[in-house]
Amino acid sequence: MKILVLNGSPKKEKSDTMHITNAFIDGMNERAKNDVKVICAVDKNIKHCNGCFTCMHNGGICVHTDDMKEILDEIIKSDLLILSFPLYCYGMPAPLKAIVDRILPLTSMQMEKTADERYVHSAQADVSRLKFMMICGCGFPNSKQNFEPAVLQFKLMFSGGKIITVPESPMFNAPEAISVTQPRLALIKRAGLEYAESFDISESLLSEICSPMIPEEVYADIVNNSRK
Ligand SMILES: Cc1cc2nc3c(=O)[nH]c(=O)nc-3n(C[C@H](O)[C@H](O)[C@H](O)COP(=O)(O)O)c2cc1C
Repeated sequence: MKILVLNGSPKKEKSDTMHITNAFIDGMNERAKNDVKVICAVDKNIKHCNGCFTCMHNGGICVHTDDMKEILDEIIKSDLLILSFPLYCYGMPAPLKAIVDRILPLTSMQMEKTADERYVHSAQADVSRLKFMMICGCGFPNSKQNFEPAVLQFKLMFSGGKIITVPESPMFNAPEAISVTQPRLALIKRAGLEYAESFDISESLLSEICSPMIPEEVYADIVNNSRK
């Protein structure tokens, strides 16, 4: 399977969230080796969408000439698109959002009503085989009142995609937290294997993965005392 990871962390390969993404892909690779390409959003020259809609009328050619053409070509060739990003202000970081806005050329101006009574633009590129995943880490210990805006945006944009959200994710880069991060990464790897086998992840496994690794008050105390 061809997997494209859009890494939205400005920390690139040092990203806390990429620990989650790499463990998930390791799990997928246990079933069969995948062809994985990672693109760091901050490395790319992506102009902001003009909002001119030219691409939606002319078969998908954007007025900008920048790195987005290469990214769109990669998306079209892929079987699985993983958006891997840290939660920033309850959403995705700006460099990744700029890419997501520029996915517009894949759809036309035609609107259609979905089974759940909303409108979406019709596809003008064939991405029917493409599956989607969102993998998101964050700095607070709570998942509720935190991940919801990013989760809803992803669900509306990439309907049917799977979502992994992990709080307290700076711990993935803390060697002293290895006794709690390693078991969590093992669960995430298991989720990757499950996903490779069924394109699904069981609800019980997901809820374990998305829960805090240590009690939230303990985590908050550690963070609050770390810079004193
Ligand atoms: C500008 C900015 C905004 C952030 N907003 C949130 C937020 O809304 N909720 C949260 O829990 N963490 C927030 N964080 C913390 C990051 O999500 C956290 O540090 C994460 O582990 C970074 O992951 P990365 O290493 O993959 O970039 C924010 C961090 C920055 C720099």
